[in-house]
Amino acid sequence: MRAMNHEDIMNAPLMPTYARFPLTVSKGKGSRVWDEGGKAYLDFCSGIAVCSLGHCPDVLTKVLSEQASQLVHVSNLYYNKPAARLATLLVELVEIPGKVFFCNSGAEANDGLIKLARRFGRHCPNPTSKEPRFEIITFNRSFHGRTLGGIAATGQQKIKEGFDPLLPGFRHVPLNNIESLRDAIGENTCAILMEPIQGEGGVNQATPEFLQAVRKECQSHNLLLMLDEVQCGFGRLGEMMGWRAIAPDLEPDAVSWAKGMGGGLPVGGFWANDRAVDEDGTELSSLLGPGTHGSTYGGNPLISAGSHAVLSEIREKNLPANAAEREAQIRSVISDWKHPAVREVRGRGLLLGLALNVDSLKHAENSTASAALCRQLMENGLLVPPAGPDVIRFLPALTVTEDEVTEALAILKTTLDGMLVSQA
Ligand SMILES: Cc1ncc(COP(=O)(O)O)c(C=O)c1O
Repeated sequence: MRAMNHEDIMNAPLMPTYARFPLTVSKGKGSRVWDEGGKAYLDFCSGIAVCSLGHCPDVLTKVLSEQASQLVHVSNLYYNKPAARLATLLVELVEIPGKVFFCNSGAEANDGLIKLARRFGRHCPNPTSKEPRFEIITFNRSFHGRTLGGIAATGQQKIKEGFDPLLPGFRHVPLNNIESLRDAIGENTCAILMEPIQGEGGVNQATPEFLQAVRKECQSHNLLLMLDEVQCGFGRLGEMMGWRAIAPDLEPDAVSWAKGMGGGLPVGGFWANDRAVDEDGTELSSLLGPGTHGSTYGGNPLISAGSHAVLSEIREKNLPANAAEREAQIRSVISDWKHPAVREVRGRGLLLGLALNVDSLKHAENSTASAALCRQLMENGLLVPPAGPDVIRFLPALTVTEDEVTEALAILKTTLDGMLVSQA
């Protein structure tokens, strides 16, 4: 049989769920990937904030091969040491007593949070009616994944369209608007779910004041504060826990993770606080008891060993500090350009959004300015993802060097210059 060429790969019988760029990536190392023809690209997409240590880091390949020869999988009917080590490390990183559940993706982690909130609302019902509380408030432009739970939680109409009837019990309110949040809290509300920085929705940050105000509302109405750190967790914002880069003293009730947690391995999880939720001292983290939740591969020894190696490396190499330094570099260089196509840089650490003046960039009518720019950047050797029609994101590996950032920004500047409408 002849080898597959680029056309064969693009025409493989895959469901057309993704609007893919016409690139087949065949190899990666550090911050670089190569296509089938051997052309190199600087990867500032990193699998959309996944490859925290870059591609094929030695520490990960070594641990995976050792663990693969020892034990790849065992049922959750039994214990395994890599999962126990990973859970212990995660609770250490959170720095608040709690317990962890493992799954395989961000959407699945958020489904777990939704189930935790429903259990909580049942355990702590409405004090007057004694009816279970079930409603969760999330924010406009949020993204919480593609499962039926995830799309119901997501605050973007286009993600929900065509999938009615949706899971009931969600309300969406504007971010950073405490009055709207207060108005939305009702007798059925049991939790608030939010991304400290919205990634897919355009890189929109919750302000420190807003996060603190949300915490206060949660305390006064006995609601869970649940953070979706799927995209912003584990060093990407300059702190191991993303929320600490914005509101260091905040104490969440539950947090979901995936993406950077495994450096490219399919892993997700969520943490719940051990705090008591009633006068008998019942812990929040105990509300999902035996038989209430599960996932065949969750906490699988191979993936857990890999995730442990990735997170240990992020901590030992102090990569959150590198994220903060590279952010400063990116902001300073771009601000010096005073480029007519650049509206602003938003976000934190290495979850940065470059908001565009779309009218100043040449792009075909059937493409958004952000997609057209991403496509041209790809042709010029830099991979970045869009975040909505007028924003592109920088999500390089947390190991990205100063020189690699300089190189990427040079490609960006040349590409923006070349797409300026005034040069048409
Ligand atoms: C904040 C957030 N939550 C959840 C998800 C869903 O994660 P997954 O694609 O692993 O299901 C994403 C994915 O982009 C995300 O950014």
